[in-house]
Amino acid sequence: MKRSNERINTKKFKKHILCIGAGYVGGATMAVIAARCPQYLVIVVDINQEKVKRWQSDNLPIYEPGLLDVVKSARGKNLFYSAAIEENIRKADIIFVSVNTPTKLFGEGAGKTADLQYWEKTARDILRVSESDKIIVEKSTLPVRTASAMERILNSNDKGIHFEVVSNPEFLAEGSAINDLENPDRVLIGAQQTEEGQNACREIVEIYENWVPRERIITSNIWSSELSKLVANAFLAQRISSINSISALCEKTEADIGEVAHAVGKDSRIGEKFLNASVGFGGSCFKKDILNLVYICESYGLSEVAEYWERVVSINEYQESRFVQTINKALFNTIANKRIALFGFAFKANTGDTRESPAIYITKKLLEERACVVITDPKAIENARLELEGLDGNLEFQADPYQAAVNAHAIAVVTEWEAYKTLDYQSIFQHMEKPPFIFDGRNILDHRKLFEIGFNVYPLGKHPLSHL
Ligand code: UDX
Ligand code: UDX
Repeated sequence: MKRSNERINTKKFKKHILCIGAGYVGGATMAVIAARCPQYLVIVVDINQEKVKRWQSDNLPIYEPGLLDVVKSARGKNLFYSAAIEENIRKADIIFVSVNTPTKLFGEGAGKTADLQYWEKTARDILRVSESDKIIVEKSTLPVRTASAMERILNSNDKGIHFEVVSNPEFLAEGSAINDLENPDRVLIGAQQTEEGQNACREIVEIYENWVPRERIITSNIWSSELSKLVANAFLAQRISSINSISALCEKTEADIGEVAHAVGKDSRIGEKFLNASVGFGGSCFKKDILNLVYICESYGLSEVAEYWERVVSINEYQESRFVQTINKALFNTIANKRIALFGFAFKANTGDTRESPAIYITKKLLEERACVVITDPKAIENARLELEGLDGNLEFQADPYQAAVNAHAIAVVTEWEAYKTLDYQSIFQHMEKPPFIFDGRNILDHRKLFEIGFNVYPLGKHPLSHL
């Protein structure tokens, strides 16, 4: 495996694509582009050298089903990972930027708007070292009109170089990233309505045309593209908050959230997807992007619109806290010194990612109540440890769910891992404290069967099945 691209014969490739930021978005997207477009040279760089090394090995820095196979199919042929950022900027024709844009934690807009410091620093690095015209592709999710600021920074040079900024937001979901990239519902490319803008747009369309049907490649003006990414995530999160808010009502009325979601989703205008009640949505995008949208609305004086979207986040927080309250109440209003096994810590199944996972809030609240929390997860234990570092309290990590449940008073299902559906709950029951409880924060288990084994079962948005 080549560590640097010095020895690569760049002449045999049609274009030289660079991606800055080898995270979930950049890493997965570039692997698929390289695999589908052997005529392009694809280099991925990152400031984190450890991460670069892992991309060069079979121990990738992220867990994503199918990713390693795609990486292996192109790595060393037209896909390379490197820490040599400047050298690769100089050689690139097209630069995708997918550095992180977290919520800003300080100053104006703190807690809401995106922190653009990495983006701007990257733009300045590009400006400093470039010696030829380049297309800069915004892959990171950015506030609407960021492209304009970036173009001003980039084109403030006296080298006679032109940079054209294009927006190409990523819609992949973790856990299904490879399929989302290989068979996308749509690819969105936003560009300026100038001749240079339209030329740049065509170059990016040309990349995706290698495997995406042309009618699924949408082109738009650059501001629509930037905003569409925020709006798509806001709509998705809104559906989850909508169904979660109704789950609270179901628990009061003996309606069943599964039946309601099924009946409502059968209306083709509403659709069946994304109607699973849960402990709340997590992930690096939903909350960040909604708060970003809220901040933009506020800054344009649209306070009603801002408040409307902010409620999507507050219902999510309500849902997380409701889950902990249900546990506390069912366990006779005290969980101090009780052992509670959290089944799952990732923000969703099939990923090791724990960013903004509802499990973080749930763990903290349980520890505040002095419970002993045992965390198990098939892929996210390493990240869970990092997330919870420095927390006071009785915290344990267990790779094996059966071990996690030994002597536990309760199990709380936080992530919808398939594996949790088929565990031997009869055996788990025998090793738990009595009376044993299961709180199914994802409604994935067979509640009736668990009840018959002897568990007191608390699903979400359904009547509990209790022996007490
Ligand atoms: C993140 C956000 O979640 C997403 O919303 C945004 O649109 C893009 O950034 P993701 O790929 O999941 O997407 O982030 P992350 O896994 O943190 O990857 C970002 C990478 O950029 C990291 O590997 C980081 O080391 C790298 N980086 C950051 C740089 O290479 N240079 C920098 O200056 C800053
Ligand atoms: C999301 C968007 O789906 C994707 O298009 C965008 O590019 C990035 O953000 P991701 O965060 O990876 O992707 O996962 P997603 O499948 O959207 O799930 C987000 C959260 O919502 C998870 O915590 C998930 O468990 C939760 N969820 C999802 C529910 O609680 N109920 C549902 O019905 C669906």
